[in-house]
Amino acid sequence: MKELSQFAIDVLAGLSSSPKSLSSKYFYDDEGSRLFQEIMGLSEYYLTNCESEIFSTCSGEIRDELVDGKQGLDIIELGAGDGSKTAILIESFLRTNTDLTYSPIDISKEAVETLSSEFQVKFPQLRVNSLVGDYFRVLSSLSTDKDRRKVILFLGSNIGNFQHSRAIEFFRGLRSSMTSGDLLFVGFDLQKDPEIILRAYDDSAGVTARFNLNLLTRINRELGADFDLSQFTHFANYCPVEGSARSYLISRERQAVKIDSLGRTFEFDQWEPIFMEISQKYSIRTIEDLAAESGFSVKRNFFDGKRYFCDSIWQTR
Ligand code: AVJ
Repeated sequence: MKELSQFAIDVLAGLSSSPKSLSSKYFYDDEGSRLFQEIMGLSEYYLTNCESEIFSTCSGEIRDELVDGKQGLDIIELGAGDGSKTAILIESFLRTNTDLTYSPIDISKEAVETLSSEFQVKFPQLRVNSLVGDYFRVLSSLSTDKDRRKVILFLGSNIGNFQHSRAIEFFRGLRSSMTSGDLLFVGFDLQKDPEIILRAYDDSAGVTARFNLNLLTRINRELGADFDLSQFTHFANYCPVEGSARSYLISRERQAVKIDSLGRTFEFDQWEPIFMEISQKYSIRTIEDLAAESGFSVKRNFFDGKRYFCDSIWQTR
């Protein structure tokens, strides 16, 4: 058998474990990225609007927290996607003639290329240096000027896809690439009425269901599998004790799925779940604990009017 890709290795491990699981980081092929854009446009998916509201109403105060006197600012965005929220901040920073560079990092080449050409047109005075790849590999290759403040953006509650211990590892990794004076700017979706959270992950138009099922399509195409999508249904739940929204694909029948490039067949019992994604919801207390456990302290928190979402600025300790 020829050498397996990381994707193949992870699918093999996930479908061989009990309960079965697939990693949400593989959602974002071109179709998955398009479906996520569609999710962000749903009124039930409140996260995007809340964070945009924070950026529009607080951009001046955010700038005052981030900008360091006359020094320039190097903004690095992890998982930049389409950058539409970030554009609100950049526009406000440029209005006050802040000397800015912007380095969006994303695993999707297409997303990063579209974003950087759009930003070049929109903000001719901005220096854009886009990077494709895995966050840490790219972050360590970034040569930034030690005399300028670095601000790392990780927006949209992307951190919610990590379990608590993995989130701490992730933040510690970022911490090690930062020097004193650098800042981390992180978006956290907050705990709220469980019904509202549940609807965000089980929308009435079924876009989230298609977003989840698209990973099976990707496995079919890239690994030569024969998943029958009609035999799986999307199920989402929210556990208020843990603050975790989780999504699953449930096998409607007893069935076997063959994956050619793994040379293997996987058996599914009737109603057996595949765990797909965790989307953690936070309290102010857990945000502060996460910061402290990862070598940071909270400098300032920003909220939308409904207090659904929090953008938290962290400084190194
Ligand atoms: C991109 C990880 C923030 O967990 O809310 C949206 C992905 N999954 N709907 C989230 C997602 C289902 C999203 N993040």
